[in-house]
Amino acid sequence: MRFSEAFIDELKDRLPISGYVGRKVKLVRSGKNFKGLSPFKDENTPSFYVDDDKRSYRCFSTQNSGDIISFVQETEGLSFQEAVEKLVQLAGMEMPTETKAEKKQVTKRKSLFELMEAAVAFYEEQLREPVGEQAREYLSKSRGLGEGAWRRHRIGYAPEGWQTLHDHLIKMGATAKELLEIGLVRPSKNSSKPPYDAFRHRIIFPILDPTGRPIALGGRALEPGHVLKEKGIPKYVNSSETPLFHKSSVIYNYGRARDAIYKLSRNASSADPFARGLIVTEGYMDVIAMAEHGFSTAVAPMGTALTEEQLKMLWRVGPEPIMCFDGDEAGQKAAMRAVDLALPMLEPGKSVYVTILPQGMDPDDLLKTDGGEYGLRDLLRNARPLVELLWDRELNKEKLDTPERRAGFEARLDEAVSAIANEQVRRAYERELKDRRYQYFRDQRQAKQTPFRKNEWGGKNSSNFRGKNIAQGPVIKLADTRGLTGRTGLGMIVRAIDSPNLMDEAKEMLAMADFRDEDVLALRNAALDVQDFGEKVDRSAIAAHLRSLGRTRSAKLLEEYPNQEPIDPSSTIGREWLAALERFPTVAALKDEAESEKNAFASANGVEEHKAEWARRKRLVAERQALKAKSQEPIDDITTSNSQD
Ligand code: UTP
Ligand code: MN
Repeated sequence: MRFSEAFIDELKDRLPISGYVGRKVKLVRSGKNFKGLSPFKDENTPSFYVDDDKRSYRCFSTQNSGDIISFVQETEGLSFQEAVEKLVQLAGMEMPTETKAEKKQVTKRKSLFELMEAAVAFYEEQLREPVGEQAREYLSKSRGLGEGAWRRHRIGYAPEGWQTLHDHLIKMGATAKELLEIGLVRPSKNSSKPPYDAFRHRIIFPILDPTGRPIALGGRALEPGHVLKEKGIPKYVNSSETPLFHKSSVIYNYGRARDAIYKLSRNASSADPFARGLIVTEGYMDVIAMAEHGFSTAVAPMGTALTEEQLKMLWRVGPEPIMCFDGDEAGQKAAMRAVDLALPMLEPGKSVYVTILPQGMDPDDLLKTDGGEYGLRDLLRNARPLVELLWDRELNKEKLDTPERRAGFEARLDEAVSAIANEQVRRAYERELKDRRYQYFRDQRQAKQTPFRKNEWGGKNSSNFRGKNIAQGPVIKLADTRGLTGRTGLGMIVRAIDSPNLMDEAKEMLAMADFRDEDVLALRNAALDVQDFGEKVDRSAIAAHLRSLGRTRSAKLLEEYPNQEPIDPSSTIGREWLAALERFPTVAALKDEAESEKNAFASANGVEEHKAEWARRKRLVAERQALKAKSQEPIDDITTSNSQD
């Protein structure tokens, strides 16, 4: 629906923005404005401002700004339309109906919604009638779902018979045309016969819109999958596209999962993967089984591969959705399709995690096994970041035993990365994959020279699980067994992260410093990336970025490092810190050393890459400084977005 400017204007006038924001963020007066801690990210110093006169907010740590409507959209994951509807109710206003045609449209949609609701209620009743006996037994015996679960998910039963629902709804006053339009009945081939019920002798799973209204149905036959296959009966029948249901932009259980994650994220630590994104499974039954076992943030697409629209919807709710796939070949393929879908769409802070379940099992199967709940929780917690799926996919395509094949491997990675539309993320991926390549080939070289280590060129998963150790290649590395202490340069970089002024002063030197420790190096790089993104450089932003790059160990190093007071660069300790950094070996030293190495291919390659990388870093730092010098004026004009759907 389109809203007139006057309508939106009145809505904003009736609801002071500070009032609505104040329900979620503790606000204190600051001049004629209010300020508080950003609702968009963890922070200790308020950088979030609300201005009632301008009817807008602005968050200086995430650059997020907007009006009351976008605030509701951002913090509750609603669409523009949904946010307006919610606010209209709060303000005690009526939704506008502008034109006659639109009015008609609205009434029609309303009656279609009512019909859908009546159908769902009818099927719920049928499940409890004598006719539903077999369905009840199937649900409780074969699927482990009792009455409570039926009620919570509005599960129903469509009885046998060609016109059961048809007759019921016609009696209630529906027209045959409406029933066809909404996909509850299908036209008979023989035009003299009335349309017949689309769902017969099936368990019914209603598909709800985010506000809880049924918009479509999924129906499952009552026999095991292999029997159905033999008989050639489709396991699931789903509603067709209707005015209420557009498959590609609907996610099963989206509304409830969104509410659940919102609650969860208020109590959980910001590093808790379950608070950072919805869990995406493949089927309705998986979502239901998971919800019944306490995984209330599970959702599923409509039996098809995830679409762009659906991924955007997932990201509106949390930056790092976790996708689960079956361990079989189809599941692996689906996982890779998801990787290819997500790559071009990545944005700073937004990514996708993937977990592959044991062979032939979906979450529902897993939950039926002993201790399955814990197993599933573990698998989800250890979901792998997208960058690692990409790495493994290309690494495993063929043995990297000739220079040509190694070059091919690099070309494939480069090509995949070039699909990333966002420049900052693309640069972060380029660098990360270069580092990985350098380390991987270096390890391979060392493995060759160390006779008691097995030399495997490629072929194996590097299996870098979130929450577990990161191994860069098939060779077990010393770094994996090292503790969190005694990392050269760790304290140095963490202190800089915790001290914005110091970071500012030292970033160029930091960029040039040669951190030999791979995890500390990743940490330094991530800190510079986050600065690149234009985000506030703090521990949580950097840790999230590190996780998205598969650098779990670095993220942990950062999070577990004791908190200390920020250092002022002009204080004694600040000057000492800067002097220490100056004494730090720089990249030039690395170059000399590497060049003196005899080992031709990999090391020379690595050095070239590193040289290019340092040149890039240096340029970036210079660019950033130039930009900053240009834009010294304070930003105080808060723009309000009046975009309308
Ligand atoms: P699965 O075959 O993995 O279903 O299909 P499932 O959820 O494990 O089903 P159960 O456990 O055997 O009951 C996943 C999803 O694909 C769609 C459905 O949306 C299903 O939830 N699907 C599957 C269909 O649309 N049609 C089919 O014939 C099969
Ligand atoms: Mn299943």
